[in-house]
Amino acid sequence: MATGQRGFDRNPTDYGDPEFARYLRRSFVKSMGYSDDMLDRPVVGICHTESGFNNCHRHFPEMIAATGRGVLAAGGLPVPFPVMSLGEVFLHPTSMVYRNLMAMAVEEMIRAQPMDSVVLMGGCDKTVPALLMGAISAGKPAVLLVAGPMMTGRHRGERLGACTDCRRFWAAFRAGDIDHAEIRQVEGRLAVTSGTCAVMGTASSMALIGETLGLSLPGTASIPAVHADRLRAAETTGQVSVALANAGYPVPRDLVTQASVENALRVLLAVSGSTNAVIHLSAIAGRAGVRLDPDRLNALSEATPVLVDLKPVGTGYMEDFHAAGGLGAVLRELADSLHSECRDVLGNQISDRIRAQDADPVDRSVIRTVTAPVSPVGGLIALRGSLAPDGAILKRAAATPELLEHEGRAVVFDSLRDLSERIDCPDLDVEPDDILVLRNAGPRSPSGMPEAGYLPIPKKLAARGVRDMVRVSDARMSGTAFGTIVLHVTPEADLGGPLALARTGDRIRLSASRHRIDLLVPDDIMERRLAEREEAETPGSAAERPTRGYRRLFHDHVLPATEGCDLSFLR
Ligand code: FES
Repeated sequence: MATGQRGFDRNPTDYGDPEFARYLRRSFVKSMGYSDDMLDRPVVGICHTESGFNNCHRHFPEMIAATGRGVLAAGGLPVPFPVMSLGEVFLHPTSMVYRNLMAMAVEEMIRAQPMDSVVLMGGCDKTVPALLMGAISAGKPAVLLVAGPMMTGRHRGERLGACTDCRRFWAAFRAGDIDHAEIRQVEGRLAVTSGTCAVMGTASSMALIGETLGLSLPGTASIPAVHADRLRAAETTGQVSVALANAGYPVPRDLVTQASVENALRVLLAVSGSTNAVIHLSAIAGRAGVRLDPDRLNALSEATPVLVDLKPVGTGYMEDFHAAGGLGAVLRELADSLHSECRDVLGNQISDRIRAQDADPVDRSVIRTVTAPVSPVGGLIALRGSLAPDGAILKRAAATPELLEHEGRAVVFDSLRDLSERIDCPDLDVEPDDILVLRNAGPRSPSGMPEAGYLPIPKKLAARGVRDMVRVSDARMSGTAFGTIVLHVTPEADLGGPLALARTGDRIRLSASRHRIDLLVPDDIMERRLAEREEAETPGSAAERPTRGYRRLFHDHVLPATEGCDLSFLR
């Protein structure tokens, strides 16, 4: 690497005199007490997302220290720097709106600041996608280090883990099965350590996707947050980042290819991962010029068995998954169907990794074989039909099997506010066979595509023992949730898709076997409704559209869910 292009000498501040800029920067850097020896080393940025508003990342100071130790041991200079954090439950209206803002911050800070490689430290749902999207666009060598999952708690003899059990207990509370005192007790037992949600939700799905894409070190995705191995993984990640800084490659875009994206999709299906991960993988792939095709998703889903028995669909937690063999065990089972030539940050092919796995026995109660899987087909499918001409998604593994082929009467809610005002009304006209529909909750809606697709079962039906209904929306659903839930309906209602024209009383038919979701309303009636809608002064949520700032940028440029909800000008 030529002198003047490395470490703190990169990207001089623009004064019209590069030598002055170098001299000035070194003098300011020296104010931090670095020796000349340190300043001659390659600089590894540690891009981290620690924040008082992010419980999942509260162990990051320790991880940053361990990463820095590895960087120093390998001859580099570690320079931690913060980017905005996205604590899933701390953001209004939803973290999804801010994923792209964080991706922009990551990209610009990696590009603008002087570093030769970067460690990307995140974990909570949107942080890993944002880190990867930004790093792909920034084009510097990068390695991902995730937070790792949290441990489970205990309540009256049973294990609890955020946040599938959060929803289960809340449903029981709504149905009157547990009282106020118990739900308060449960509240303190659901999330008991640092780390990401304890089940195969979005954070865990994205950690596995990152590792499958080759962007993090093998075996690191599922190490529990509080395990000493996570600190050792941080130290090794630091060492590897120095090798990347010296070599100048690979950059993330070298690793995110059509083939590696397909491998990631296969893993997502085999672990029965989150529906949100499809959006995020689509956005990550889009930054590398790779398109995620819904028909290909369905083809892979029909040919990929579910191998892991974890919540929200099964019984185990992420700590069990890691102890059972982790991603390595899943990759070995999928070996025959993976693109084995795909490489990771170390330069190794997936086939090398599969061959090199040591022979720790796999716990088959958690990670099954392809010959005796949890399910013979993948957990997720894409849907199309007259209600979702451009697509929708269904986590069939989380659905009630009898509802996967279902026709029912629509009960339509026009917005989140409408939903919250009416869902529990004693006089709501709703029966267990009806299909609950929520609209104006897509990416362009005022709520920015919240995890509201898990519509609550109306209280009066919950009290009658109803635990699942078909629910349809242009919203998302938490990766930790379950039910027969059609999500990401595209075009979203805000864009005037058929979802905007559905009315209470219409018939809707879901057919998972045919990959279809249809609104059974004749064309001439739909045309009349469309004309009426266009005549209305403020169709959909127009009256609430953002007028300024990032929210306006997001609204005006966000791509549909089927294309990953990235901003159109960032692809
Ligand atoms: Fe951070 Fe669930 S709240 S991963």
